[in-house]
Amino acid sequence: MTSQTMDPGLERPFNGEALLGRLFEQTLGAFELFNVYIGERLGLYRALAADGSATPDQLARRAGIGPRYAREWLEQQATAGILEVDDPSAEAEFRQYSLPLGHREPLLDQESLGYAAFMPRYIVSVGGAMPALLDAFRTGSGVPWDRYGDDMRQAQAAANRPLFLSVVGQEWLAAIPDVHHRLAADPPARVADLGCGEGWLSIGLAAAYPMIRVVGVDADPASIEAAERHASEANVSDRVSFELGDAVGLGRGEPFDLVLIFEALHDLSRPVEVLRAARELLSPDGAVIVVDERTADAFTGMALDNPIERFLYAVSTTVCLPNSLAERPSAATGTVIRASTVDRYAREAGFTSTDILPIEHEMFRVYRLNP
Ligand SMILES: C[S@@+](CC[C@H](N)C(=O)[O-])C[C@H]1O[C@@H](n2cnc3c(N)ncnc32)[C@H](O)[C@@H]1O
Repeated sequence: MTSQTMDPGLERPFNGEALLGRLFEQTLGAFELFNVYIGERLGLYRALAADGSATPDQLARRAGIGPRYAREWLEQQATAGILEVDDPSAEAEFRQYSLPLGHREPLLDQESLGYAAFMPRYIVSVGGAMPALLDAFRTGSGVPWDRYGDDMRQAQAAANRPLFLSVVGQEWLAAIPDVHHRLAADPPARVADLGCGEGWLSIGLAAAYPMIRVVGVDADPASIEAAERHASEANVSDRVSFELGDAVGLGRGEPFDLVLIFEALHDLSRPVEVLRAARELLSPDGAVIVVDERTADAFTGMALDNPIERFLYAVSTTVCLPNSLAERPSAATGTVIRASTVDRYAREAGFTSTDILPIEHEMFRVYRLNP
């Protein structure tokens, strides 16, 4: 028997050497991500972009970092093909490094759908939470959202921000005629954004529909604090407010014309109770829209050709499942929330059916829950 053990039915190779190579590549990727993290968090890319190219000493002065670290980091970034170096054969201290034009958008443009520099924050965050995570695996307990720290919350906010500010209101809701008309009409529609995180969806909707009033609800104090700051900076605080609390206790006030739960249903410990609360708070023609992960229809075993499914499972074990288990009782959904699960939760909450709307997105599926 060699290290190549075949899955007998499907002739798929489970090859030890291939796995070794793959794990090396992924370890390399993780270390390179830490270096992108350093560049993003310390403003090194921004400093390079602001004044063109820089020697190690110039970058150290501009960004306020140690010169020896600046030199090593610049060499690492050039070696990894992220930065450009003018003359690799020059003396180390005279080499000029620059941020190639094509890398500005992924590294600097926080409002672009092509922004990527937030991604290493996920990895750093999970690394920091690993002791708690190991404990949770052993005991079956959970890891609360705030245990993942600022990096996780800010990465989540950064990941969806461009979509929230330029697509969800402008394209997705605009493509649902009754919802669009209500949001554009007088008297001003009331919208709830449950599990609002740092509030970018609430802010983006208020920008897309200048009449509406939005209430964002989140159980995480740091998220609400950031959301209030972002809304004030975006000058929408007169129409967008945020409430700290459990979405289960939503409202008790005026009805809502639209309730949105964006990438949060699978995080909720009590998703059915939250959906029930949302349903009870709807105005007579109101709508509940849930956006959650674009999972496969069912578990398939090996899915090497499906990076989205692999990503969702890898995030589930390390973030979303432990997060939802931090409160009890918990539905313990995990990130891999299937369309059938959303439909089941909706029916248990009293909705009659669920439609999957024809809105295409690589990561997300859009559901409308029918009262
Ligand atoms: C993955 S984040 C999504 C945030 C935001 N909707 C977005 O798409 O960027 C899930 C959010 O749900 C919040 N959350 C979890 N359980 C909650 C609950 N019971 N009530 C309100 N918010 C909750 C978390 O604090 C977190 O901010």
